[in-house]
Amino acid sequence: MNSVPIALNKAAMRKYEDLEIPCESILVAYVWVDGTGINLRSKDRTFDFVPKSNKDLPIWYFDGSNTSQASSDNSDTYIFPEVIYHDPFRRGSHLLVLADTYQYNYQPTASNHRKNCTLVCEKGEVEEPWFGFNQEFFLTTTDNRPLGWPPGGFPAPPGPYYCAIGANKIVARDLMESFCRCCLYAGVRINGINPGTTPSQWNFQVGPSPGIKAADDLWMARYILSRLAEEYGTVASFEPQSIPDWPGNGTFVYFSTKDMREEDGILVIERAIDKLSRRHGIHINEYDANNGADNARRLTGKNGMPHIRDFTAGVANRCCSVRIPRQVSEDKRGYLEDRRPAANADPYRLISIILRTCIFDE
Ligand SMILES: *[C@@H]1O[C@H](CO)[C@@H](O)[C@H](O)[C@H]1NC(C)=O
Ligand SMILES: *[C@@H]1O[C@H](CO)[C@@H](O)[C@H](O)[C@H]1NC(C)=O
Ligand SMILES: *[C@@H]1O[C@H](CO)[C@@H](O)[C@H](O)[C@H]1NC(C)=O
Repeated sequence: MNSVPIALNKAAMRKYEDLEIPCESILVAYVWVDGTGINLRSKDRTFDFVPKSNKDLPIWYFDGSNTSQASSDNSDTYIFPEVIYHDPFRRGSHLLVLADTYQYNYQPTASNHRKNCTLVCEKGEVEEPWFGFNQEFFLTTTDNRPLGWPPGGFPAPPGPYYCAIGANKIVARDLMESFCRCCLYAGVRINGINPGTTPSQWNFQVGPSPGIKAADDLWMARYILSRLAEEYGTVASFEPQSIPDWPGNGTFVYFSTKDMREEDGILVIERAIDKLSRRHGIHINEYDANNGADNARRLTGKNGMPHIRDFTAGVANRCCSVRIPRQVSEDKRGYLEDRRPAANADPYRLISIILRTCIFDE
C-alpha cells in the first residue's frame, strides 16, 4: 500500500487529551482480524458503564465488504467480543476488546481461526498445553522500505545488529520501549523484546501461557504495535520475506504439555517431534497467511533457515525446523521450539494444528 504520510501537528492534540468527558462514558475499541488473515481492523463504541468482562459487551457488526469478509449486498459481519484489555492509548477505564468475526448466518468467517482453536484447546485441556511465541517483524516507511536502510541500498550484512546498542546499529528503540510498556499496561503477557538480525527488525515474545491466551495476546500485541507505529509515523510489517537472501521474519512457537515439563519429559518431547516430522506438509500449510506460499520464499535452506521440504530437529540448532533448547536437553524436560511459522502466521492456526498432531495423534 503506497500513501504519502501527512504531517499533522501532534502538539495540537495535547490540548484535547485531558478534556474532561463524563465519567460514565467508556470507549471500547473492538479489534478484529480482517479477511487477509494478517491485518487488524478496529472501531470504537461508547458505553455508559464500565464493562468488567467480555460478557458485559454486546455483539456488534461492521461492513465486511471492505475487509474481504462479505459481499456488499450482504455486508453486515458480526464481531463477538472475546477478551478485554486495558487501553494504553486512552487509559482510564477505556478498553480494547479482541473480537472474532461471524457471517450473517452466525457461522465463523473464513479468517476466524479463533473459534476452532477454542474447541481444540478445550479438548486438549487435560494435557495442560502452554504456548509462547517469538514474533519477528520490521519497521518500514509508509512506502514499505525498511526504516533506516540506506536509500536504494542495503546495510552492511547481518552480524552487528542482533541485540546491539548504538545509533549506527539500532532503529526505533524508543518505539519498542513504549510498546513494551503499553503491552504490560494492557494486560498482554509480554515476556521480552530484542533487536533482530537486520536494522529495523525487532523481536518480541509473549507467553508462555496456558491454552489460547498467548495467541490472544499475540494478536493484541500486533494491534498495539501497529497503533504505536502509526503514532511514530512508521509501519509494523509482518511480511515473511520480501528481500531474497536476507534473514526473513518468523513467528517461532514454544510448546509444552504437563508431561513434557515433568521429569524425563524429554521423552515426550521426542515423541512429539516424531509426530511433527510425519505431518510436515500439513503443518507448512497452516504456517503462514497464504497456506505455504509465503514460507516457500522464506524457508529456502539459506540464512540459517531449514528448507521448506525438509523436516529437521536438533539441540540448540537454529537451522532446524524444530529446536530443543540446550537447557531443555540438559534438564531432560521442558519445551520445544517450532521455527517454521512465518511472521504473518495466525497463532490460532498454529496452536490448533500442533495440538491436533502432538496430542490428538491425528
Ligand atoms: C469498499 O466499499 C465501497 C463502498 O461500499 C465499495 O464501492 C468498494 O468496492 C469496496 N471495496 C472493496 C475492496 O471491496
Ligand atoms: C473449523 O473446523 C471445521 C470443522 O473441522 C472446518 O470445517 C472449518 O473449515 C474450520 N474453520 C476454519 C476457519 O478453519
Ligand atoms: C522482513 O519484513 C520486512 C518488512 O516487510 C521486509 O522489508 C524484509 O525484507 C523482510 N525480511 C526479508 C529478509 O525479506
